[in-house]
Amino acid sequence: MWNAAQYLKFADERSRPFVDLVSHVHCQDPQVIADLGCGTGSLTRMLHERWPEARVTGVDNSPEMLEHAFRLTIPGRLEFAQADIATWFSEAPLDLIVSNAALQWIHDHAAVLTRWSKMLSPAGTLAVQMPNRFQTPSQTAIEEVTADSRWATKLHKVGLHRDSVKPLSWYVHLLHDLGFEVNAWETSYLHVLTGENPVLDWLKGTALRPLLERLHEEERTEFLSAVGSRLKTAYPARGGITVFPMPRVFFVASRLEPEDD
Ligand SMILES: C[S@@+](CC[C@H](N)C(=O)[O-])C[C@H]1O[C@@H](n2cnc3c(N)ncnc32)[C@H](O)[C@@H]1O
Repeated sequence: MWNAAQYLKFADERSRPFVDLVSHVHCQDPQVIADLGCGTGSLTRMLHERWPEARVTGVDNSPEMLEHAFRLTIPGRLEFAQADIATWFSEAPLDLIVSNAALQWIHDHAAVLTRWSKMLSPAGTLAVQMPNRFQTPSQTAIEEVTADSRWATKLHKVGLHRDSVKPLSWYVHLLHDLGFEVNAWETSYLHVLTGENPVLDWLKGTALRPLLERLHEEERTEFLSAVGSRLKTAYPARGGITVFPMPRVFFVASRLEPEDD
């Protein structure tokens, strides 16, 4: 279960990669757009604002996130649907698929990206961004605490892990083989956060969610305290701020023009 309020605590920081991703989309006047894993819909609305003539559909499987999104509906222009983005199918060919910070939650990236590519119109574009903090101290902290014998069995293979995002070149090869020209890049955002334990707060809105769901109330408190103290050591506050580096991968794939004879 997603908690929209917890997720939205860092709405500004989380929106910047989306804006950076969309700034690299150069498709001409897309008519039909899908935002896959749209969450609360506030970024989907930015797609509507960027291309007001298009029909934009945000798709997500979380009722908690969609509760916010549905309030933004503009019939025929900005709509939302509850579905699994790994199996959702668009009746109309899509000129643009955007997926921001969602694909890492899905297992078979080859199958899903192949499926999404088949829903695109002949000149369609696919734009994806994923957080990639799986080799950072935040992941080490989660893994160390998850391995604790108190809950290791319950938490085995739950949630995100080191292979949730593959090396960026893997996506480039996959999409190239599917007939796309790919613009791919990775960068690290240094989020400057305030508060008692802001990295713990950040992760409670995303990566820790499925783990906490498996634990009882008392276990949760102990688990959060153990992860929290490791995070405070890994990301120490100084002068009232905590710097949280967040690596992210991006790729924008457009269909290769057929070569002239
Ligand atoms: C980190 S949030 C990102 C939300 C939004 N794209 C943004 O950038 O603010 C990830 C979203 O992906 C959705 N999600 C994860 N797996 C999904 C699936 N299999 N089908 C549909 N939505 C999924 C979650 O419900 C959540 O709203």
